Amino acid sequence: MKTRNSAPSNIALIKYMGKLPGLDNKPTNGSLSYTLEHLRTTVEISEIQSQRDQWAPLIENGLSRLDLSQKGQDKFLKHFDFLKKSWGLQEKYFQILSANNFPSDCGLASSASSFAALTRVSSEHFQHIKKIQNGNDPNFLSQLSRKGSGSSCRSFFSPWALWKNEGAESISLNLKLNSSVILLEQGKKEVSSSEAHQRVLTSPRFKGRIERAELKLQDLIRSIEKEHWKESFAIIWDEFWDMHELFHTSQPGFAYMNKTCREILSHIETQWKKTGHGPWVTLDA
Ligand code: PMV
Repeated sequence: MKTRNSAPSNIALIKYMGKLPGLDNKPTNGSLSYTLEHLRTTVEISEIQSQRDQWAPLIENGLSRLDLSQKGQDKFLKHFDFLKKSWGLQEKYFQILSANNFPSDCGLASSASSFAALTRVSSEHFQHIKKIQNGNDPNFLSQLSRKGSGSSCRSFFSPWALWKNEGAESISLNLKLNSSVILLEQGKKEVSSSEAHQRVLTSPRFKGRIERAELKLQDLIRSIEKEHWKESFAIIWDEFWDMHELFHTSQPGFAYMNKTCREILSHIETQWKKTGHGPWVTLDA
């Protein structure tokens, strides 16, 4: 018996950057994201006769072959082990196949879609084996998924998700976006987001970050509700620079922007200044 399903990625307009002490990905500040339905991870699970769980890339037309590092595989399987224990299935072993329909490790939040898909498919598969608790409750799945990858907890809600504490929730904003991704390089990033969460704590700019982010979260929700699009643009713009300045001023500092990226951002900023209109833009890690 095989179970297969997928989950989308999401892009934060107010970012989760910085974790509270502890090992379970609790955020220092609330975040707001838009779900990117077209960027998805597919996961397939089947039971195997083995003494350990196994991961392999899902190879299929239309899906990019996932080249997960040993560290990436270990993190994925560790989360799966946690899911098995949460639902009392630690005596059984499974094969997990997964693939994205977009490139991974380059700022498109493939960890969000991967961990959300793994959590969703595990709950579905386990329900075929035994009666499990809360297997269909997106808020519960979101809380479990958060423990594997923080940002994945927002991928259970669409189109908008708000995450403040244990797990994300749906937030009803009367707005659908047309989203485009500008991908300038497909190379793997040098500093992982897990590492970024640690390093930002060393930036002198981290002082005041939590208050700044919480204020922007409230202001952004209000501006969207009032349909003040230019104000929303300004908050989203300020927010991604805030996060990237934390990166640039960490010890040691690091950056995800290249020359072309800065040129595109400057082009968008000029368009807003000249016309008072333009796209909202954000840049992830
Ligand atoms: O969930 P993680 O550990 O991959 O954190 C990613 C955080 C950012 O993508 C940089 C911002 C966000 O809120 O998604």
